[in-house]
Amino acid sequence: MPDLGTLSVSRLGFGAMGLSNTYGQADDAASIATIHRAIDLGVTLFDTATGYGEGHNERLLGEAIRARRDELVIASKFVHRPNGGGAEVAPVQPRAAVDASLKRLGVERIDLYYLHRVDPLIAIEESIGELGRLVEAGKIGAVGVSEATADGIRRAHATYPLTALQSEYSLWTRDVEVEILPTVRELGIGFVAYSPLGRGFLAGAEVTDPNDRRLIHPRFLPEAVAANSQRRATIEQVAKRVGASVAQVSLAWVLSKNVVPIPGTRHIEHLEANWAANDLVLDAESLVALEAAFPRGATTGARYPSEALKLVPPEPVAA
Ligand SMILES: NC(=O)c1ccc[n+]([C@@H]2O[C@H](COP(=O)([O-])OP(=O)(O)OC[C@H]3O[C@@H](n4cnc5c(N)ncnc54)[C@H](OP(=O)(O)O)[C@@H]3O)[C@@H](O)[C@H]2O)c1
Repeated sequence: MPDLGTLSVSRLGFGAMGLSNTYGQADDAASIATIHRAIDLGVTLFDTATGYGEGHNERLLGEAIRARRDELVIASKFVHRPNGGGAEVAPVQPRAAVDASLKRLGVERIDLYYLHRVDPLIAIEESIGELGRLVEAGKIGAVGVSEATADGIRRAHATYPLTALQSEYSLWTRDVEVEILPTVRELGIGFVAYSPLGRGFLAGAEVTDPNDRRLIHPRFLPEAVAANSQRRATIEQVAKRVGASVAQVSLAWVLSKNVVPIPGTRHIEHLEANWAANDLVLDAESLVALEAAFPRGATTGARYPSEALKLVPPEPVAA
């Protein structure tokens, strides 16, 4: 089992965001069955956030894990100001956010609680310092941060030891390799890779629901899909050669970086296929081919719409 700072977790975690209608319609009963199957398979890290489905996601996860909570590592997140709100919005304080998350999840303690986005108007030391006090109060087990810059990570870690950094990492989003991964490795902070399947693109999934949030993401505009599909063809070739699926090859690549991916799915068959990526070790030839097809910065389309992009670290300059 890999270590995530002070926590021991399964090699692959489970991201619950898509169970709240983010990427097409989800069904609560099917979602709960999927979470139960994940637990049976051996997944121990489950990831949610206050913002997913405006509380629905934490409530759903809480209900699904109730009987086996003690075997699991439950992670959630908060932001001071939802939807990128500015000075006109009164910031949510960590203590109030944690209390609300605890209630929705129905647990006595959340094992890992992240600052979901660094607030441009609140010093990271202030946010993380307060989360550290909530560890001391027994409300959360450990502190994380999502999408911080290398400097932000250092400042946060100096304030209270971080257990995990959660950032986007997959074949088509390799920005963290420049500064952020080396920083967390140096500091002994765990790395959780979110959207490891490129929000489904690197699994070969297609967006068909008109309410799917991906449709406002630049990478899912038709011209971007057309350009990025040419790169994805290499994953298909590797998958064919090694006798695995496209999703499994994409996940095996992330696993090869010794980080903890948290793929999401609404479907048991996808979950089972993704879990099997645990056993797929890509050979050097495959790794070279994949990395040549997806050099850092080559993906067509930004990874977030413009407003959301302001709250994540800037793309590193080309080498
Ligand atoms: N910290 C942050 O800011 C942040 C941001 C985004 C996400 N996250 C976390 O990371 C988790 C995972 O990221 P994500 O959900 O954005 O993206 P992802 O895990 O990269 O991809 C999820 C998508 O892939 C599809 N999929 C999964 N397995 C598949 C398979 N074997 N074959 C075909 N399609 C497959 C899913 O569709 P089906 O449901 O149809 O399987 C879903 O649409 C989230 O749930 C959330 O917990 C964190």
